[in-house]
Amino acid sequence: MKYLPELFAANARWAEEMTAVDPRFFAGLAAIQTPAYLWIGCSDSRVPANQITGLKPGEIFVHRNVANVVVHTDLNCLSVMQYAIEVLKVQHIIVCGHYGCGGVKAAFEGASFGLIDNWLRHIQDVRDRHANLLAALPDNEARWRALCELNVIEQVRNVARTTLVGDAWKRGQSLMLHGWIYGLADGRLKDLQTSIEDGAELDDAIALAIAGVRSRYALQ
Ligand code: CO
Repeated sequence: MKYLPELFAANARWAEEMTAVDPRFFAGLAAIQTPAYLWIGCSDSRVPANQITGLKPGEIFVHRNVANVVVHTDLNCLSVMQYAIEVLKVQHIIVCGHYGCGGVKAAFEGASFGLIDNWLRHIQDVRDRHANLLAALPDNEARWRALCELNVIEQVRNVARTTLVGDAWKRGQSLMLHGWIYGLADGRLKDLQTSIEDGAELDDAIALAIAGVRSRYALQ
């Protein structure tokens, strides 16, 4: 093996270990995937969906981009969602952000990294929408953490407002949305209390989640 032999060696060991535990593991997965979850997360190398949720191959369908943004016209994300909802029939869509997100920080600070600045404008929209909340926080560290949470909450709103999710709910399909955030420093997931299973719950759930952010970070 000429290039990156260490990765191929690790892969061979992993495949052997999986087969040792369950000789039918790969044969079963090759035939069908039936994940119950769609994960929309950040591309950050420190936030791997499967590992942090303890899920095996076949158990979670994954879309990742910089700063876990759901844009109404992003055909890549929408295609993943459509397949997950209409073909795989996942029961849960999890938008998961993380503290210490470089994309959120760059957006917050208005830092410039080239083309990606355009992508991060979506997070600046979130920042500007919640300018009053952020301005009331004690320092920029708190604002960064709060914006990481607000970004998740607003992306859950965007997921809920896609035609894909709206149509699924109209059909009576069981589909629950969730907003989570992951701590790089402690490896723990936190639920941001945005879980909804019906469009009618959306505005109240989002308002409650945003109130939660305000109370977590506001000066006491
Ligand atoms: Co990130």
